[in-house]
Amino acid sequence: MKVKKAVIPAAGLGTRMLPATKSIPKEMLPVVDKPAIQYIVEEAVNSGIEDILIITNRGKSAIEDYFDYSPEVEASLEKSGKISELNLVRASANLANMHFIRQKETKGLGHSILCAKSFVGNEPFAVLLGDDIMVSEVPVTKQLIDASEKYNASSVGAQQVDLGVIHKYCSLKIEKLEEKIFKALDVIEKPSPDKVFSNYAILGRYVLTPAIFDILEKTSPGFGGEIQLTDGLAELCKIEDMVAVDFDAKRYDTGNLQGFLEATIEFALKDPSVNTWLREYLKMHNS
Ligand code: UTP
Repeated sequence: MKVKKAVIPAAGLGTRMLPATKSIPKEMLPVVDKPAIQYIVEEAVNSGIEDILIITNRGKSAIEDYFDYSPEVEASLEKSGKISELNLVRASANLANMHFIRQKETKGLGHSILCAKSFVGNEPFAVLLGDDIMVSEVPVTKQLIDASEKYNASSVGAQQVDLGVIHKYCSLKIEKLEEKIFKALDVIEKPSPDKVFSNYAILGRYVLTPAIFDILEKTSPGFGGEIQLTDGLAELCKIEDMVAVDFDAKRYDTGNLQGFLEATIEFALKDPSVNTWLREYLKMHNS
């Protein structure tokens, strides 16, 4: 199973990060010096992905601009000899073949994925949620692609979450295949306590076959009145093989303030250009 295409759904409203997200896409908020979505695109590229479709909406054209050339800025940097800045500005435009489509109505993640149908065609594809940054040695998408190739199956990235908060995620019914890889038998979105299958939840990464599109086209609105990808996955794992990969990575949900601040502080503490200063600054303010 060769996976060369990825879809990044980024058309959500970002209500947990208001008021900033009233006019700035949450995916464009900087985590230290790069917008959050660049980390996601880099993960895809480092996993062997060549073509990336970002699903946006009418308020998110800043994402498209970011992955394009910026002739005025570049000319000014060139003129003033700021070559490293020039390289930085160019790099984001040259990361991969970038494609964009708008989800015209915010009808949920499943509906957003459906917007990728003609881009994907008849190949398996990766999905990376636009606000989940993963830090790992092997990119999480690569971990999933490897599992999909090994089992000739769709795969979902999963980790254990506290049972006390599983109702905020989804819950997987699984059967162990090997260390860290499970067969996915069923999944339920935002389960009430009596419907929880396990404390494994799907977190932000998927490798799917195009069979998901036929399923999503027939999927009725579920939790929150939205077309849920999870409901589509519950169908998919019953007609085709699907594995759940307990991926090795630290995940930052930058779509909420706590995750966003954690990522910002931890990434800055590792960044040689600011870490010495930041440690001193935090020490000074630690009282
Ligand atoms: P979230 O659950 O994070 O929702 O979406 P949200 O709207 O982005 O943010 P909040 O909850 O209002 O703060 C999960 C993923 O699905 C995408 C989001 O962009 C995010 O990557 N999504 C969600 C869409 O692309 N379209 C939708 O209609 C809904």
